[in-house]
Amino acid sequence: MLKFNAMPENGAAAQKKPARRLGGASGRPARILAVANQKGGVGKTTTAINLGTALAACGLRVLLLDLDPQANATTGLGTAPGTREPDSYDLIIGEAALDEVVIETEVPDLFLAPTSMHLSGAEIELVQAERREYRLADALADALGGHTAPYDYVLIDCPPALGLLTLNALVAADGVLVPLQCEYYALEGVSHLVRTINRIKASFNNNLDIQGVVLTMHDRRNRLSGMVAEDVRNCFGSKVYETIIPRNVRVSEAPSHGKPVLLYDLRCAGAMAYAHLAREVVLRERDLDKMSIHQ
Ligand SMILES: Nc1ncnc2c1ncn2[C@@H]1O[C@H](COP(=O)(O)OP(=O)(O)OP(=O)(O)O)[C@@H](O)[C@H]1O
Ligand SMILES: [Mg+2]
Repeated sequence: MLKFNAMPENGAAAQKKPARRLGGASGRPARILAVANQKGGVGKTTTAINLGTALAACGLRVLLLDLDPQANATTGLGTAPGTREPDSYDLIIGEAALDEVVIETEVPDLFLAPTSMHLSGAEIELVQAERREYRLADALADALGGHTAPYDYVLIDCPPALGLLTLNALVAADGVLVPLQCEYYALEGVSHLVRTINRIKASFNNNLDIQGVVLTMHDRRNRLSGMVAEDVRNCFGSKVYETIIPRNVRVSEAPSHGKPVLLYDLRCAGAMAYAHLAREVVLRERDLDKMSIHQ
C-alpha cells in the first residue's frame, strides 16, 4: 500500500539530517542490491531512486548508496554533492562509518548515502589497499551486521564501468539489478557483465546472482522497443521483471527538481511503473526466501 500522502506535496526541500538508526520493517537482514550495468545512460540511477522511493512508500526502510562519482543519485534526491561530509568516498576508504554518512531525504523511510566527485579518486587510491575489493562489504557488514538491520533494502547506484567501485558494490551485494534500455544496443556488453558477475561469485561473493533485469525507457509506439524487450526476455527468461518502465518525460524532468518521479508526479506512467516494479521486487524476494527455507 503506497503511503504518499505522508509526503510533503510540493515539498520545500526537507531538512537533511543524519539518519537515526532504527530497525527495518521486515525484521530480516538488509537485502543489498547493486544496480549495475557498465553501459552508460540505461536508467541505473533513475531505477535506484524511484525503486527506492516506491519500496519506502510500501513501508520498507531503504538506503540508497550513491557509488557513482557523477553523484546523480545525490542530486536527483535534492542534495548538492560535496555539501555533505563525510560521504560514500569516506565510507569506502574507511574514514567514516555508515551512520556518519547517511542522511534523511524528503521521502519518509528513504535514506541516502550521498557522494561527490572525490569518489573518482577512490578508484586510484584503493588500487594498493588491502582487501580493496571488500572495502564496501566490510563497511556495510559493520553497520548492518547487528540483530536488527537498520534497513530492509540497500540499493547501490553503480557507475557506468566495471572498475573497482562497481567491483566493491558487487562484492557487497546479495543480488544485482540490471537495467536494460529498450534500444538496439541493449544487449551489447551484457555478456561481459554476466561474466564479471560469475567471476565475482566464484572468487569473492558466492551469494551473488542477478536478482532481476529491468527493461527501461520502453516506447510502445516504437516497434524496435518491443523487439528488444522480446530479445531480452529470450536471453534472461524469468529474470526479467514483468513490469516495463516506459519512456516518460515526467521521469526525466523529476531529477532537475531534486525529486523522485513518485513525488514529482505520482500519477504519471513512469511513477506507476516504478510502484509496480517495487511490488515485483518484494514478491521475488519472498519467493527466494521460501526457496532458501526449503533447501
Ligand atoms: N523512463 C524514462 N523515461 C524518460 N527518461 C528517462 C527514463 N529513465 C531514465 N531517463 C533519462 O535518461 C537519462 C539516463 O538515465 P540515468 O541517469 O538513470 O541512467 P544511468 O544508467 O544511471 O546513467 P549513467 O550510466 O551515466 O550513470 C537521464 O537523463 C534520465 O532522466
Ligand atoms: Mg547513473
